[in-house]
Amino acid sequence: MNPVIELILNRKSVRAYDAREISEQVKDGILKATLRAPTAGNMMLYSIIQVQDQSIKDTLARTCDNQPFIAKAPLVLLFLADYQRWFDYYIVSGVKELCERNRVPMRKPEEGDLFLACCDALIAAQTAVIAAESVGIGSCYIGDIMENYEVHKELFHLPRYVFPICLVCFGYPTQGQKERELTRRFDEKFIVFENQYKRLDRASFEEMYRDLHERTFKDRETLEGARNVGQLNYLRKFSADFSKEMSRSVRAILAAWKED
Ligand SMILES: Cc1cc2nc3c(=O)[nH]c(=O)nc-3n(C[C@H](O)[C@H](O)[C@H](O)COP(=O)(O)O)c2cc1C
Repeated sequence: MNPVIELILNRKSVRAYDAREISEQVKDGILKATLRAPTAGNMMLYSIIQVQDQSIKDTLARTCDNQPFIAKAPLVLLFLADYQRWFDYYIVSGVKELCERNRVPMRKPEEGDLFLACCDALIAAQTAVIAAESVGIGSCYIGDIMENYEVHKELFHLPRYVFPICLVCFGYPTQGQKERELTRRFDEKFIVFENQYKRLDRASFEEMYRDLHERTFKDRETLEGARNVGQLNYLRKFSADFSKEMSRSVRAILAAWKED
């Protein structure tokens, strides 16, 4: 099989790391590859912060929904959707004066710009994940970095037009992680459509979730009061406190982004 596809098919999230450090040379290789990621208009609408300070890693382990493995990761990269750099450059370049000359108001970064910057940052992050995987380094995304905006803003000195979209932990996997089974995915027919979006009906959902239901519920009728995967997911994820905090925090980021 094509070795790149084989690498991708065998990738899994790694949450326990060997004591082995990641050398500067290996890290540089990963970062070089990361910066070659496709980027909207070749603008590189993202920044990356390497979290080296142990006390910051310790804080993140708490503020990102209490995930202690973050503090133990040899390499932690924070990916930021970043319109601040371009906007600062517009100001430095005299765009304000240009707009005055043209008698038009100067536009500020808006929602579309934010989403585009998020695309850039996430594509860069996934490029780092695959580059790391190719040299035997495992990784795990931390979506909870979108929580506790006020703490992270102060911790990393984030300006207004910078959105912390994901954190990624990297490290050589422990033997246990190497041996762990791959997670399963839903069948392609429920995810990949032809030409048009297809909403699923009850029968399709039953088929889609059958395997996961059987593995999760085994011989039990209920789990944590839930009767199926939909109910369990709603309780554990969608209506969990971390999800509510994430929405609160993202609203705060958006409010700062859109302030007049
Ligand atoms: C956007 C995003 C956020 C994630 N956040 C977390 C997280 O906070 N903690 C964690 O342990 N895993 C996190 N993960 C990893 C997923 O749980 C993992 O990718 C999923 O369970 C599938 O497992 P696999 O990557 O091993 O195939 C995240 C993944 C993504 C893409």
